[in-house]
Amino acid sequence: MATLAQRHILLVVTGGIAAYKAPDLVRRLRDAGATVRVAMTPAATKFVRPLTFQAVSGVSVHVDLFDPGAEAAMGHIELARWADLVVVAPASADFIARLAHGLADDLPSTLCLATAAPILVAPAMNRLMWAHAATQANVAVLRARGVRFVGPDEGEQACGETGAGRMAEPPAIVVAALCAQGGDALAGLRVLLTAGPTQEPIDPVRFITNRSSGKMGYAVAAAARDAGARVTLITGPTRLVAPAGCEVVAVTTAQDMLDAVLARVADCDIFIASAAVADYTIATPAPHKVKKAGTALTLTLTPTPDILRTVATRAGAPFTVGFAAETERLAEHARGKLTSKSLNMIAANLVGRVGTGFESDDNELSVFWKGGERQLGKAAKQALARDLVAIIAERYRAEAVHSE
Ligand code: PMT
Repeated sequence: MATLAQRHILLVVTGGIAAYKAPDLVRRLRDAGATVRVAMTPAATKFVRPLTFQAVSGVSVHVDLFDPGAEAAMGHIELARWADLVVVAPASADFIARLAHGLADDLPSTLCLATAAPILVAPAMNRLMWAHAATQANVAVLRARGVRFVGPDEGEQACGETGAGRMAEPPAIVVAALCAQGGDALAGLRVLLTAGPTQEPIDPVRFITNRSSGKMGYAVAAAARDAGARVTLITGPTRLVAPAGCEVVAVTTAQDMLDAVLARVADCDIFIASAAVADYTIATPAPHKVKKAGTALTLTLTPTPDILRTVATRAGAPFTVGFAAETERLAEHARGKLTSKSLNMIAANLVGRVGTGFESDDNELSVFWKGGERQLGKAAKQALARDLVAIIAERYRAEAVHSE
């Protein structure tokens, strides 16, 4: 399917090890129907030679702002006007900073300043550089100006460290390019989302929790933000860096999460419950550390409030999307929850096995709503989140039309 047919995409490649993935990105953008031209920073040419991009794009590559030959063929202003979309991939911390400050001291930064086309940035850098307050402030400035971001992904980095900073994979960048062209699916909407686990205290030093890492929920928050929504993320304890541009509310217990949700739900259009909320809490947590007695210990558990059901059944409920984590009979259980919790939609995943569900970077989702369903095959949680958000936007609009 040539989803980017007739589109002119200017790919800006900046200096970083992830530049090695950029030729593959050119190929995929072209496969999707786009015409691609490439501009490189001088640093990028140290990682991949311009000739490689010339071979995969079929046209000469732009590197030098003062190259008379290139200017004669297509001047930089002409090139900036030619683009329907500018994709910066990989985008180094330095280039993001220069974009944020409006510098134009080389060809790629000049093109970004001179274009009226939307700009999509795929950051790639060391995790500490990405998490640094300076980078996050630059990203916030760019977001506020309408620049879109895809990634960065979490994982092992070229420097040997692990964390957020890997460039999004080329297929995910192609999807983001598509979204950037296709408009803001959730523009103007407010999304409230829960993510991560809850912790239910036994005593001041121990608690009951589950395996949720928060990866799926954080990816959905980022995807909703990229689709133009104002996102509030209510998160249980995780080790993740929260997606920039989202309001973040950190909570610990199921009751905290319910309180945080109820304080904000009246102001949201869409509620997404991806958190793995503990179903039971300790009836009476001990005020002091429980001492080892050498005999069996009995804990009395009481049910926690069901946050999702509470939201879905209240008067004037938002469009409500639940998740279902199942170890068997996925569709049957998910459809049961869709009905019993009065949801508009549910995204179900199999858990309790390696490679999908809890903790892993990948997942597989079956999405159900009244009268429909869609299967999202195994993929990175970021890619699945983007597909899920597209379905949510579609169903939200369809139901809004229906209820008019
Ligand atoms: O965080 P990761 O490691 O990336 O893993 C992702 C995930 C597996 C946690 C996620 O994809 C997922 O399935 N989240 C829902 C987990 C869950 O609690 O499922 P459930 O089938 O037990 O609950 C059904 C729904 O009710 C969920 O939307 C849940 O948020 C909600 N619920 C449950 C209990 C409760 N007391 N309040 C709730 O709101």
